[in-house]
Amino acid sequence: MTTLSNNAVTARAHTNIALVKYWGKKDENLIIPYTGSLSLTLDYFYTDTQVAFDANLTTDDVQIDGQPASAKTTARVSRFLDIVRQRSGITQSAAVRSTNHVPTAAGLASSASAFAALAAASSRAAGMDLSLTDLSRLARRGSGSACRSIFGGFAEWQPGTDDTNSYAIPIKSHGLADLRVIALTTAKGPKAISSRQGMRLSVTTSPYYPAWIQTAQADLVALKAALAAADFSAIGKISELNAMRMHALTLSADPDFTYFNGQTLTIIDLVKSLRHSGVECYYTIDAGPNVKVLCQSETTEKIVTTFSKVLGDENVIVTKPGPGVQYL
Ligand code: DP6
Repeated sequence: MTTLSNNAVTARAHTNIALVKYWGKKDENLIIPYTGSLSLTLDYFYTDTQVAFDANLTTDDVQIDGQPASAKTTARVSRFLDIVRQRSGITQSAAVRSTNHVPTAAGLASSASAFAALAAASSRAAGMDLSLTDLSRLARRGSGSACRSIFGGFAEWQPGTDDTNSYAIPIKSHGLADLRVIALTTAKGPKAISSRQGMRLSVTTSPYYPAWIQTAQADLVALKAALAAADFSAIGKISELNAMRMHALTLSADPDFTYFNGQTLTIIDLVKSLRHSGVECYYTIDAGPNVKVLCQSETTEKIVTTFSKVLGDENVIVTKPGPGVQYL
């Protein structure tokens, strides 16, 4: 990445995978969720973002992966930067250069790493020195899941009730260093229904949404107990069940929709048959057709071999717990 100017700030943030999902906003403007969620930050996929406020610019100039961002993306970034401008008192427009470190067109680019990196880089470029809690609150305004990517390892987003108390906290874990997440790519390119639209439709039309609020809260309590006990089997079971309950909200929406494709279902079956044959692994799926498989280091090779045969080597990536946001 070429340096923009002397006062440019660059930050790196990693993606995260939610084991208990965030799916639905109580407040769409402030991004306050109905329920808490808990994720693992991953080492392999990350975003580097450089921000420089510049008196010579008349509008924000946003480039992603070396290309000018679309009008829609630039508008979303500008709305976010307006929050930073308002808080810092800065009035200048900004140059933003963002690079996603994901395999080319793997369909794994994430708003979580993007807005966590943007929050860190833009706030510091505007002269603010925010605590990790305040960075998490700020990142949340860009994309809910971004508030968890401020932290490495496991992070819990405590839903709160307003802007001041809705942020993520790190969750300490011991004995889980050999946890692996295998990312399986089944489709590339942007999804037809964004998570933002998808969760809105689920909240407003699925008759099961009230049940989701109850079960997601219970799943979160159970997951935290499983993490404290470093109980991999329990972590996997809770994560898998919670993911399917989230996806049940898409199938029960009006109009109904799904993020799954045919390969997603094939992978689900394969994970179950691996498990029945004694290779312990579990799946989780976000708002897209790609699947993440949770396993431990000793079974990773076997699982990678199985899925490489079906999907091709380039669509099977092994990731580990990753670090929190950092300045470069
Ligand atoms: C399925 O954080 O992308 O990945 O707040 O509208 O930007 P917005 O949504 P986003 O949604 C993530 C949904 C999820 C589950 C999760 O990460 O918890």
